[in-house]
Amino acid sequence: MKYLVIGVAGFIGFYLTKQLLERGKTIVGIDNLNDYYDVRLKYARLKELEIYPNFQFDKIDIAYKTAMNELFNLHSFDVVCNFAAQAGIMYSTINPDAYIYSNITGFLNILDCCKKHNCKLIYASSSSVYGDNKKMSFSENDSLTIPKNLYAKTKIQNEQLAQIYSERPFWFANNRLASVFRLWYFWTTRYGLYAFYKSNS
Ligand SMILES: NC(=O)c1ccc[n+]([C@@H]2O[C@H](COP(=O)([O-])OP(=O)(O)OC[C@H]3O[C@@H](n4cnc5c(N)ncnc54)[C@H](O)[C@@H]3O)[C@@H](O)[C@H]2O)c1
Repeated sequence: MKYLVIGVAGFIGFYLTKQLLERGKTIVGIDNLNDYYDVRLKYARLKELEIYPNFQFDKIDIAYKTAMNELFNLHSFDVVCNFAAQAGIMYSTINPDAYIYSNITGFLNILDCCKKHNCKLIYASSSSVYGDNKKMSFSENDSLTIPKNLYAKTKIQNEQLAQIYSERPFWFANNRLASVFRLWYFWTTRYGLYAFYKSNS
């Protein structure tokens, strides 16, 4: 079984990949290594993954359709795990374009490639899709009302796009993650906050 992990140098993509490699899976990991937070963290994660012989990294941007098509033509993936996105709520007020670029254009390219090559897709949505839902606890059957920010909007659109593609048919699983954290996460968030305040001071 061959896996593609997208956003492999990111926080969740890295930990997932490490777990899969430990289980002997063959993984191709891609990431554009953007500088939303300190890129040294991403290189450090890749260094940990590159010791596994069953791991291969390619620097690819999911918004580049040609590169994505070439990747899927080259490999025969069984499962695609997408954890690449422009994350963060505050940053969407500073750089909204990044959200459309990665979360909409990039995500659509992933859907298209998975559909064409008959790959199963697992991807990350977010609890932010619940907006100011007052009902506790949240349920996946809750209707998604007006999003509170651009990040949430792109995550809702991801879910709707995946739904459209699933009608063709196409297998996917969506996870609405809420504040995932572990070693290295606090550093990224602290750095994100620092970068935010620095760019606004
Ligand atoms: N960490 C959390 O608490 C949390 C909560 C809810 C949802 N999520 C979702 O989980 C996913 C992963 O989150 P994370 O915390 O690991 O984020 P992260 O920022 O650490 O990782 C995302 C990775 O994707 C890469 N990336 C971004 N745009 C790309 C592009 N255009 N092409 C290729 N690579 C690109 C980045 O370089 C980064 O390495 C995201 O979809 C995020 O919205 C995370």
